[in-house]
Order: sequence, then C-alpha cells, then structure tokens
Amino acid sequence: MKQKTEEAEKALVDTNIIIQMDDVKRVYEMGDNVVEALRGVDFKVQQGEFLSIMGPSGSGKSTCMNMIGCLDRPTSGDVIINGKKTKLMNEKELARLRNETVGFVFQQYHLLSTMTVLENVMLPLRYKGIPLTERRILAKETLQSVGLEDRLSHRPHELSGGQKQRVAIARAMVTNPRIILADEPTGALDSKTGKQVLDLFWEINRIGTTIIIVTHDPGIGLSLPRAIHLFDGLITEDGKQQNLEKEVHHV
Ligand SMILES: Nc1ncnc2c1ncn2[C@@H]1O[C@H](COP(=O)(O)OP(=O)(O)OP(=O)(O)O)[C@@H](O)[C@H]1O
Ligand SMILES: [Mg+2]
Repeated sequence: MKQKTEEAEKALVDTNIIIQMDDVKRVYEMGDNVVEALRGVDFKVQQGEFLSIMGPSGSGKSTCMNMIGCLDRPTSGDVIINGKKTKLMNEKELARLRNETVGFVFQQYHLLSTMTVLENVMLPLRYKGIPLTERRILAKETLQSVGLEDRLSHRPHELSGGQKQRVAIARAMVTNPRIILADEPTGALDSKTGKQVLDLFWEINRIGTTIIIVTHDPGIGLSLPRAIHLFDGLITEDGKQQNLEKEVHHV
C-alpha cells in the first residue's frame, strides 16, 4: 500500500517535469575532426525551476541549451519537452514548440537593428498569428513590466547594454512561454546592470516560468536554487544550492 502511494506520488511529480534529457549526445563531425560536445547528459527540470548551467568554455553549455530549445537535434538520446519526445516531431512541429513554449535570450541581445524597441517585441506575436492591435498592446505591457515604456520608438543602437537586454527579455516573455533559456545574458554587462537583469529573471520566475541561465559568473550561477556543472560534455555536478539564502544576499 505504502509503495503504491509512493508510486502515485512519483507519477504526480513527474507530470510536473517540463524538460527531460535522457543520455543526450551531440557529436559534431567536420571532415576528420570529430567533436563530442555532449557525451551523455541526463537531467530533469520541473516547471517553475530557476537554474544555471555552468562550466568552462567548450564544455557544451550552449550545445545543451540548443538541445533544450530545439534549435538543434541530438546525435542520440532523448530530449523531452513538455512531455513530448522531440525526435518524433517534424520541423514544423519543432518550430511551433520553439515559438509557443520557449523564449530565448542571448549575450549579444540579437535585436533587429532596423526595427524599433516596440516592433522587436511585437515580432514573436506576429509569428503566433496575433492581430496587430493586440500585438501592440501586449508588447507595450511587457515593455512596461521591464521598465522601458519610455523607449518604445528607440532603435536598439540608441539604448544602453542593460536596456537592450531588457528589450530582449521582453521579447522572450511576450508570448508567455513556459521556459526561458538565457545563454550568458549578463556576459556583456557590468556587474550592477547584470544584477538588475538577474532581478528581472527572478520576477519572471515568480510567475511560474522555468528559467535556465548559462553563465561563467559563479556569483550568478551559485545564487540560483540549482546549478548544473558541465565539463567536457558531461555533467560533473547537479545540485540544489547550499546556503542559498546567504549567497543570494551576497549577489
Ligand atoms: N556548430 C558546431 N560545429 C562544430 N563544433 C561545434 C559546433 N558548436 C559547438 N562545437 C564544439 O562543441 C564543443 C562545445 O561547444 P559549446 O558552444 O557548447 O561550448 P560552451 O560551453 O557553450 O562554451 P562557451 O563558454 O565558450 O560559450 C566545443 O568544443 C565546440 O568547438
Ligand atoms: Mg556557449
């Protein structure tokens, strides 16, 4: 009876898993040169978690993010997003999953330079087929929530680094995705601006969004509730942070 209850509980917990990586390998072959970027990575992420992926340059962090965000497919193993095995999906289904479930934030912002701040944030809504008036309202609301309501008509080059990253975050969150993936989002920012960007991620996480941040900065990575450490394509550590409260105060 006790065992049954435990099984039932486990099943319940499992339905809450939004990302599952099962023995994920990614090999890049370029002529004779074979790089094993991921050599068998396993982990699960529950809806609403906020975690970091850390590790030295070349350890496979971006490759791992590309797998989770379905920007790339594994050579072997399974990536399961929202209960769906991505290898069973065709390109169109993957594109829809990327558009509806995942928001991306990059170190170099990747904003479109010819568009205004407002137009950049409206863009993902267009791909979702949302009508223009509603796109404008939603994008304005989201820009307001990141404190940029007075920069709607600016172009990206007229903004500071921190402001550009806040636009990029607004663009990632405007579709209300269940997952936000951020690859070195504070890498190009000074530490004070980086802290503001991190605070913004905390706010987004508070409403239930799962967030994964790749970072070289232990001050950021170790301030989060969980850190996955990669080395040479393998996980060397995956744990909940000790002394979390103490560290959060120090960041
Ligand atoms: N498109 C590619 N083609 C060939 N090799 C690649 C490709 N992308 C990554 N690699 C290789 O895979 C390994 C892991 O790269 P990855 O970009 O995931 O590292 P990373 O941990 O994100 O590093 P960094 O901290 O420098 O961004 C590296 O050795 C890299 O050279
Ligand atoms: Mg990288």
